[in-house]
Amino acid sequence: MIEQIRAARDAALASLASAASSDDVRTVELEVLGRKGTLTDLKAGLGRLPTVEAKKAAGQALNDATAEVSAALAARLGEFRRAEREVQLHAERLDLTEVLRAPRRGHAHVVTQAWQRLEDVFVGLGFQVAEGPEVETDWYNFEALNMPAAHPARSMHDTFYVDHGPPGSTVLRTHTSPVQIRVMQTMPPPIYMVMPGRVFRNETADATHLAVFHQIEGLVIDRGITLADLAGTIEAFTKAFFGPGFGSRLRPSYFPFTEPSAEFDIQTPSGSWMELGGCGMVHPNVLRAGGIDPEEYSGFAFGFGIDRMAKERHAINDVREMYANDIRFVEQF
Ligand code: PHE
Repeated sequence: MIEQIRAARDAALASLASAASSDDVRTVELEVLGRKGTLTDLKAGLGRLPTVEAKKAAGQALNDATAEVSAALAARLGEFRRAEREVQLHAERLDLTEVLRAPRRGHAHVVTQAWQRLEDVFVGLGFQVAEGPEVETDWYNFEALNMPAAHPARSMHDTFYVDHGPPGSTVLRTHTSPVQIRVMQTMPPPIYMVMPGRVFRNETADATHLAVFHQIEGLVIDRGITLADLAGTIEAFTKAFFGPGFGSRLRPSYFPFTEPSAEFDIQTPSGSWMELGGCGMVHPNVLRAGGIDPEEYSGFAFGFGIDRMAKERHAINDVREMYANDIRFVEQF
């Protein structure tokens, strides 16, 4: 019996030594210690031994063999578990290196860039920046700018009306000029201010017009300001913004809120002229509406389209493309 026990033990230890996986180890366990296992069978035979001493000796040998085999089983199983865990971890490894690559960064829209550059250039010339509301009263948008109710110039501003207050009393501002009045009302001269912002006109969009666009307004009020200061400021701005090879000129024009009024053009180094905006000496009625005495102070104002500037600067054919939000278009600028 004891010979059989040792043989079974040695066979079990040999199978364990040559096991190739944790499954193999479990198979050996079943074959030796399972319900029909070799050592289990021998244990069942203990009762048939003739003497107490023989039973005792065989029982002891059986316990020793079982303990030895169990220890070997646990050791081999531990080895395979670690190895198999390694394999599994490797197989389930997620490749996160893509996340480590810097994500593509966005940038300011081409019109925002033009807006910011314009502010920078005017701040460099000594101006401050102010903004006003997009929803305005008829008084600020027209009346205070020397355009009373029946004024023909009003028909040039295709106005969006807002359903608020008495009919016709509230508008989406058609230009940034109402901010001139608000600035005059909030600070005493000297005023050297630019006022960028969004404006609205009820017209059908085409390659050169949008119903929603942007302007930048300029306002200077001080003692002894003349048309020469206006022309000089436009010239200094042109050279600072476009480059030293550029020039400017004023052409007589008409706006109700300036007198005299002019359009201003800029000349490219190749000699061609480009119309940019309107300007003039602030009308005495406008100074008075802003609470400023026209006998004491004079000033000039100008206004032009920011979207137009971006369009000309980058030779964009159609202003509508700037707001179509096609990433292939906007990422070019
Ligand atoms: N507000 C005028 C426009 O929108 C531009 C302008 C501003 C003209 C200031 C003169 C002075 O066309």
